[in-house]
Amino acid sequence: MADLSGLPHPPPAGETALKPGTFDGVCVFVTGAGTGLGKAIASEFARLGASIVIASRKAEHLEAGELAMKELGAPVATAPCDIRDADSVAAAFDAAESAFGLPDVLVNNAAANFPVPAEDMSPNAWRTVVDITLNGTFLCCREFGRRHLSAGTPGSIINVGASYAWTGGPGFAHSAAAKAGVKNLTETLAVEWAPYGIQVNGLVPGLFPHEDMTADIQGNLGRTHDKDVCQPALRVGQRQELGWAATFLASPYARFINGHTLVVDGANWQRRTLTNPPVVSVRNQMGKGPFDAGG
Ligand code: HXC
Ligand code: NAP
Repeated sequence: MADLSGLPHPPPAGETALKPGTFDGVCVFVTGAGTGLGKAIASEFARLGASIVIASRKAEHLEAGELAMKELGAPVATAPCDIRDADSVAAAFDAAESAFGLPDVLVNNAAANFPVPAEDMSPNAWRTVVDITLNGTFLCCREFGRRHLSAGTPGSIINVGASYAWTGGPGFAHSAAAKAGVKNLTETLAVEWAPYGIQVNGLVPGLFPHEDMTADIQGNLGRTHDKDVCQPALRVGQRQELGWAATFLASPYARFINGHTLVVDGANWQRRTLTNPPVVSVRNQMGKGPFDAGG
């Protein structure tokens, strides 16, 4: 049998999927754009001429995102923001408007997540992840939608999700449930706001390891030694691939795509059979001892 080579690698980071200047004069507001995939998505819009607003909590992340956009020559503004807080979200949109006018595109990329067996999860741990990932996404959509409806202007929203929204996410019950809510919210808002010219889509990354991943997530992933061979594509995603998909979804060439969730994962989520590998409990996968209700 010939060696398996998997899906071909993409062009290198730095190439653009769309024609130069596609987003000239367009302002793109990206939550969590100071790290990982948010920064990668913002970078692709920046390469195509957009002005970028980076919204997140931590100064070091805001600074890292700002530097990355400046290196690409893009106009950039930062907006300290906790997306769980409606006033903070409104203030971030005020800052964006002052810098570049009302953002034309909103990318809800910020999310919270850590691996934990459901029986160990505290009520506050559940609430925190749902609050950031689902409620935060709603609050940003709401602010963006209300401002555009008032102004009578069109817009485009991309909500970043995860495929365990529809498969379930053992070890990530909070995040999986929140992402299921995000997918559903995307579909509702797409219908409610299309008459006003606002398009709402979802974008789901597969496995895209990066250096900004939290220690918890990196530790969890670290238990799988060779990640490439675990994917049907025989490789993980490269960040620019997600960024290119995002720029397409918000571009003039995708105006009739609405309420859709685009999965960029090399078909990994469909890799399920009735003869899966032997079951290992989530506790064992995470190297935890027996459940202790007092622990
Ligand atoms: C169990 C935990 C925990 C952990 C926090 N908690 N980390 N429980 N295991 N590893 C609990 C705390 O004990 C607390 O509950 C509650 O969660 C809130 O914790 P805080 O630290 O007070 O919350 P906060 O400061 O708001 O920080 C939120 C956070 C943090 C989610 C805990 O990790 C964060 O800010 N993350 C942002 C970045 C992020 O999560 N990125 C991942 C996105 S990647 P108690 O009961 O003690 O009060 C993704 C998909 C990856 O989503 C897919 C990979 C394959
Ligand atoms: P990441 O680097 O940890 O980024 C998360 C971002 O969210 C951070 O920049 C963080 O910035 C911001 N954030 C968290 N809580 C916030 C809050 N309350 N208010 C404002 N900003 C907040 O994670 P990532 O891997 O790039 O993930 C990006 C998106 O892709 C997420 O939606 C994630 O669920 C999804 N995803 C990723 C993968 C993957 O393989 N990486 C797979 C599936 C889905 P601050 O700390 O500065 O606030």
